Amino acid sequence: MNIPIPELVKSAFAARKKAYAPYSKYLVGASILTKDDRIYSGVNIENASYGASNCAERTAIFKAVSEGNTKLKAVAVVGGAEDNEITGFAYPCGVCRQVMREFCVNPEEFIIIVAKSEEEYRTFTLNEILPASFGPEKLM
Ligand code: THU
Repeated sequence: MNIPIPELVKSAFAARKKAYAPYSKYLVGASILTKDDRIYSGVNIENASYGASNCAERTAIFKAVSEGNTKLKAVAVVGGAEDNEITGFAYPCGVCRQVMREFCVNPEEFIIIVAKSEEEYRTFTLNEILPASFGPEKLM
């Protein structure tokens, strides 16, 4: 499958500038690629009532789904503390992994890219980071 990794990572970095994270000060940007090769980006959006916060990955996915794009192929994630350069990889949380499971075309082919820069990144399939998963086909 042809995933435009540099474009997705660049888009996640651009999105990250709009992260709303006044409490953790940990800014995250995510960009997803739909089955028909559209890109949607999102950021983490925190809340004074902390539990109402939303991760960047889910923001991006919910933007796509709310516009009718429910089949997804890949996501790129970049995250790091507000005042520092990005030095580590930001791995998707468990809830976001499950949301990816809902909307991926195929968990064995859905690609997660965690990046420090356009040159330094790691890739995983959803099946690798969410093995033995529960998905919509069980209920449909
Ligand atoms: N966060 C994300 O947006 N995505 C991740 O992959 C990891 C964590 C956010 C949630 C919260 O706003 C902040 O990072 C610190 O946990």
